[in-house]
Amino acid sequence: MQTILLTGGAGFIGCHTVIELLDRNYNVVVIDNLCNSKKEALRRAELITKKSVKFYFGDIRNREIMDKVFTENKIDAVIHFAGLKAVGESCRIPLEYYDNNIYGTLVLLETMKKHNVKKIVFSSSATVYGTPEALPLSEESKVGGTTNPYGTSKYYLEGILTDLYKSDKEWNVILLRYFNPVGAHPSGLIGEDPKGIPNNLMPYVAQVASGKLERINVFGNDYDTPDGTGVRDYIHVCDLARGHILAIEGCKEPGVHIYNLGTGVGYSVLDMIHAFEKACGKKLPYDIKPRRSGDIAACYACPDKAFKELGWKALNGIEEMCRDQWNWQSKNPNGYEEE
Ligand code: NAD
Ligand code: UFG
Repeated sequence: MQTILLTGGAGFIGCHTVIELLDRNYNVVVIDNLCNSKKEALRRAELITKKSVKFYFGDIRNREIMDKVFTENKIDAVIHFAGLKAVGESCRIPLEYYDNNIYGTLVLLETMKKHNVKKIVFSSSATVYGTPEALPLSEESKVGGTTNPYGTSKYYLEGILTDLYKSDKEWNVILLRYFNPVGAHPSGLIGEDPKGIPNNLMPYVAQVASGKLERINVFGNDYDTPDGTGVRDYIHVCDLARGHILAIEGCKEPGVHIYNLGTGVGYSVLDMIHAFEKACGKKLPYDIKPRRSGDIAACYACPDKAFKELGWKALNGIEEMCRDQWNWQSKNPNGYEEE
C-alpha cells in the first residue's frame, strides 16, 4: 500500500484526512511542529480507525528532520497542509507568514526532489481568487489581487509549484482550493480546536452555543447579498478530507491539476447562525458590527470539475455541518484539553 506524508497532519483538516487515509489502508506519516495543533488529535484518529500513524515532531523548515522523514520512509506522495493561516495575524507579522509558508514549502520541495518524490497535493484556498469578478468561481476564474499576506502566500505557492512542474515534467502537482471548511468528524472525537478567540465564524458560533463566548459579532449587514451579510461556501471537513484521497487516486499523470473543493452553494452569516440554532436547540444572540476589513461580499465555488474528473462532490449540507460541529463542541468544550 502507498505511503502518504502529511505535513501539518495534526491540524484541523489534516487529522480528518488521516482518518480517510487510514480507513483506506494507506500508510500515514505525519510531520507537525504542533504550533497550532495537539498530538491528541492523532491519538484520537488512531482510536477511531484502530490503525496507527507514524508521527515526527518537527518543523518543515528543518532540513535535517525533513531528510530523516524521507530517508526512513518510502514516501509515495505528500499532502502539504503545514502553514500558518490566520488572515489578520498575517497582516501583523507578514515575515513570519512568508517564512513559514513559502520557505517551509521550498524546503519540503527540495527534500522531495532529493528523494525523487514528485507528487504533491497542496492546500490552497479560495482566497487566491481575490475579489471575485463573477460567481460561482471556476478554476478558470482570475486569480491574484489577494488582500493579505496569508492569501498572497497561497497565490505565490501556486506559482512556485507551477514553475516547478514547468521545469521538470515528472512532477504531479495537485492544487486544491478549499472554500470554507467547517464541521467535525461525526464521532465527536476530533474537530477544530482554535487557540484563543476564534477568528472564523463557525468555531465562534459554536463557542457562543456552548456558553464560552457571549454573543456573535456579525461583521456587516450592508453587503450586496440577499440578507446583507457575507455569503460563503461552507464545506464539511470530512467531504474535504475525502477530496484529498480522490485527488491522489484520480490524478495519475504528471501535470498541474487544479480543483475547487466547495459545495457550490453560498450561505449567509445569518443562514449559518440559524442553522446552528436548530442543531443546538438554543437561540444564539448576535450583534451587527461594522464590516471586517478585507472581507468580500460573497464567495462560492463551481465544483463541477472535481465531480467530472475525480468523481468528488460534497455529500453533507449545512445541517450536517452544524450537527457535527455542535457534537464536537459540546463533547469537547475545551478542545483537546482535559477539563
Ligand atoms: P491548522 O492550523 O489546523 O493545521 C496546520 C498544521 O500545520 C498545524 O497542525 C500546525 O501545527 C502545522 N504547522 C504549521 N507550520 C508548520 C511548520 N513550519 N512545520 C510543521 N508543521 C507546521 O489549519 P487547517 O485549517 O487544518 O489548514 C490546513 C491547510 O489548509 C493550511 O495550509 C491552510 O492554509 C489551508 N486552508 C485552510 C482553510 C481553513 O479555513 N481552515 C481554508 C483554505 C486553506
Ligand atoms: N464573520 C462574522 N463574524 C465572525 C467571523 C466571521 O460575521 O466572528 C463573517 C465574515 O465577515 C464572513 C463570514 O463570516 O462573511 C466567514 O468568515 P470566516 O472568517 O469564517 O471565513 P473567511 O471566508 O473570511 O475565510 C476563510 C479562511 C481563509 C480562507 C477562506 C477561503 O479563514 O483562510 O475562508 O477559503 F482563505
